[in-house]
Amino acid sequence: DLGGYRYYMQKEIFEQPRAVADTLLDVTSIMPELFGDNAWRVFNGVDSVLLLACGGSYHAALTAKYWIESLAGLPANVEIASEYRYRDSVANPKTLVVAVSQSGETADVLGALQVAKRLGMTNTLSICNVPTSALVRECALNFMTRAGIEIGVASTKAFTTQLVALFLLTLALAQIRGRLSDEEERRHLHALRHLPDAMGKVLALEPQIMAWSETLTRKENILFLGRGMHFPIALEGALKMKEISYIHAEAYAAGELKHGPLALVSDEMPVVAVAPNDRLLEKLRSNMHEVSARNGRLFVFADVDCGLSPSPGVSAIRLNEYYGPLSPILHTLPMQLLAFHAALARGTDIDKPRNLAKSVTVE
Ligand code: F6R
Repeated sequence: DLGGYRYYMQKEIFEQPRAVADTLLDVTSIMPELFGDNAWRVFNGVDSVLLLACGGSYHAALTAKYWIESLAGLPANVEIASEYRYRDSVANPKTLVVAVSQSGETADVLGALQVAKRLGMTNTLSICNVPTSALVRECALNFMTRAGIEIGVASTKAFTTQLVALFLLTLALAQIRGRLSDEEERRHLHALRHLPDAMGKVLALEPQIMAWSETLTRKENILFLGRGMHFPIALEGALKMKEISYIHAEAYAAGELKHGPLALVSDEMPVVAVAPNDRLLEKLRSNMHEVSARNGRLFVFADVDCGLSPSPGVSAIRLNEYYGPLSPILHTLPMQLLAFHAALARGTDIDKPRNLAKSVTVE
């Protein structure tokens, strides 16, 4: 049932405040038990985190690396599951292995998990949207996202609920390591509880985003830039764009611009920047200047009070507020809407993009 929407992806984009609220339903305090009965014992014994995933879920895992190292002080690594499973790696039995997968049936994620277990890493946790999936059966601990069934091939509500789950995991690890004061716990819980509202306000920016997509849809290439914990969000934006609009899109960590991709920038190569009001904004601003100086058109997703003054070739859409460490969740929404409207204007099969399957159960 499309409930009045034209596409499942569109419906699922707008379901996100509800999906996030459902995923947070039982959370009134941060505790390891959110991840399973034995979670306290497991989390207490780990000295690092290894996240395994594919595609969009890999981008969620990449965001978590920034959170875990910054807030929990634990070394965190992220690997593309198809790479990890076939390379020689050094196993650490004290690592918490976190498999992130919407479907829980992705062959490479299951394969990577098997390899980790065979190497003696038994502290396994799934972050998954399907309780009956193979992944959930295979992991010692599980956290279920409650996005509901996702039908659009391009993942939306599964991605943002994965981020919520990974943030909760970060807080639980921080707590066990004595890095989460009661005051901080209250502050984070407050921010999480208000996230659905904040997401609703970002989704209301749709008309402005739609106007941008009219320009972008005529281009054959788009560059996405982000820094820090918003670099994975730029990656996710580029993935959504290429998946459903078939526009060639690439994402770079903005600091990498002058190490190569700047050569591509011209008035034919629009640049989308994810530019929240965090401590990297000044750095990003100088990267954006590098683009403007080469006649590149910039489309900037900023926050209020970003101090960005209007200038030729630079358009900005401002989110209502800077949302602290949860900002990547809010900044994901414009990425999804931009890709959706570019695809809509191009008349592609949005819910079933060519050559792609919802669940990749073969290698
Ligand atoms: C992107 C997308 C895919 C999946 C990937 C992993 O929009 O949907 O890249 O994220 O195939 O799938 P799961 O999360 O089911 O393991």
